[in-house]
Amino acid sequence: MAEEKKKPRDITDLPGIGPSTAQKLIDAGFTSIEAIAVATPHEISQITGIPLPTAQKIVQAAREALDIRFKTAKQLKEESMLVRKITTGSRNLDQLLGGGVETRTITEFFGEFGSGKTQICHQLSVNVQLPEDRGGLEAKAVYIDTEGTFRWERIEQMARGVGLDPDEVMENIYWIRAINSHHQMAIVDQLFDLLKRENIKLVVVDSVTGHFRAEFPGRENLAMRQQLLNRHLHQLARLAEIYNVAVVITNQVMARPDVFYGDPTTAVGGHVLYHAPGVRVRLKKSRGNKRIARIVDAPHLPEGETVFVITEYGIRDPE
Ligand code: GTP
Ligand code: MG
Repeated sequence: MAEEKKKPRDITDLPGIGPSTAQKLIDAGFTSIEAIAVATPHEISQITGIPLPTAQKIVQAAREALDIRFKTAKQLKEESMLVRKITTGSRNLDQLLGGGVETRTITEFFGEFGSGKTQICHQLSVNVQLPEDRGGLEAKAVYIDTEGTFRWERIEQMARGVGLDPDEVMENIYWIRAINSHHQMAIVDQLFDLLKRENIKLVVVDSVTGHFRAEFPGRENLAMRQQLLNRHLHQLARLAEIYNVAVVITNQVMARPDVFYGDPTTAVGGHVLYHAPGVRVRLKKSRGNKRIARIVDAPHLPEGETVFVITEYGIRDPE
C-alpha cells in the first residue's frame, strides 16, 4: 500500500532543509512555505547566501508542498462563490465595486493626498466587523501602516457611527507600523501564520508604495523598485487567495498622473497593479467633503464615476 505523504506545514518539514539552512531562511524573512514558494531561487540565494542549486531545490519543494496544480473550470466557479464583500459605508461606492470590497482580491485605492485613501482603510477595518446582514463579515482586520497615519481616535468615531462598541472594534484591529520596505514584506510573510489562527478577513497596506519610492528614488532605481514591489504584490495576492481575505492597498499619485512634469517616475506608482489581478479605484477630491471614485481597467465592473463623502462618522453617501 502506498504510504500517505505527510503534508509539510513548516519550512523545516521541506525535504533538503536542515537546521542551519532553515535558520538562514528565517533570518532573511523567509519564514513560511508560502514566502519561499513565491520567491525566485536567485533572490533566496542572494539574500541568504545559500548556493543557487540548493535554493532551486528549496523553491521547487515549497511549490510542490503548496500543491500547485491545475484547477477545473468547475472548481473555479466554486471558488468564485466563496468571494464575500465588505461594505465601504457608501452605497454608491459599493455599487461601483460590484457590491463592496471583495475577498480573494487586491483592491487598490489610488489618488492624490487628501483624496480619502486612508479614511476608506479605516472605515473598512471597522465595517469588516459588522454582521453579514449589514455588509460585514464579522471578522477582524490587520492594518499595516507605513506612514504613521493610522488613528485609533478615528476608529472610535467610525465604530460609534455604525453603532458598534468602540473598544471591541479597536480590539479587533491588529495594527503594525512597517519601518521600511523590507520590514513591510517580512510582515506579510508573518501574516501567513497569523491568518491561520485568527478570523481575519481584511488586510490593509496603507500605503503600499511609500517606502519603495523613498528607498528607490528616480529613474535609475525604477527596475529594482518595481521588481520588489511585484514580489510584494505577489505575496499579497497569494495571501488573499489562500485565506479568502480582502487585501486593500493604497497608493499616492499626483493629481494628474498622465502629465509628466518634475520627476516622471511619480506616475509609475499609478500602475502598481497594472500586471496584477485586482481592482483599481482612482479617487479624486471634489467640493468640500465630496470625493469622486472611478474604477480603472476592470472589464467586469460597470464604467463610470460615483460620489461619496467623508463625514465625522466616516464614509457615507452624499445627502
Ligand atoms: P495621503 O495619505 O496624504 O495621500 O491622503 P489620503 O488619500 O490618505 O487622505 P485621507 O484619507 O487621509 O483623507 C483626508 C481627508 O479626510 C481630510 O482632508 C478630511 O477631509 C477627511 N478627514 C480625515 N479625518 C477626518 C475626521 O476625523 N473627521 C472628518 N469629518 N473628516 C476627516
Ligand atoms: Mg493616507
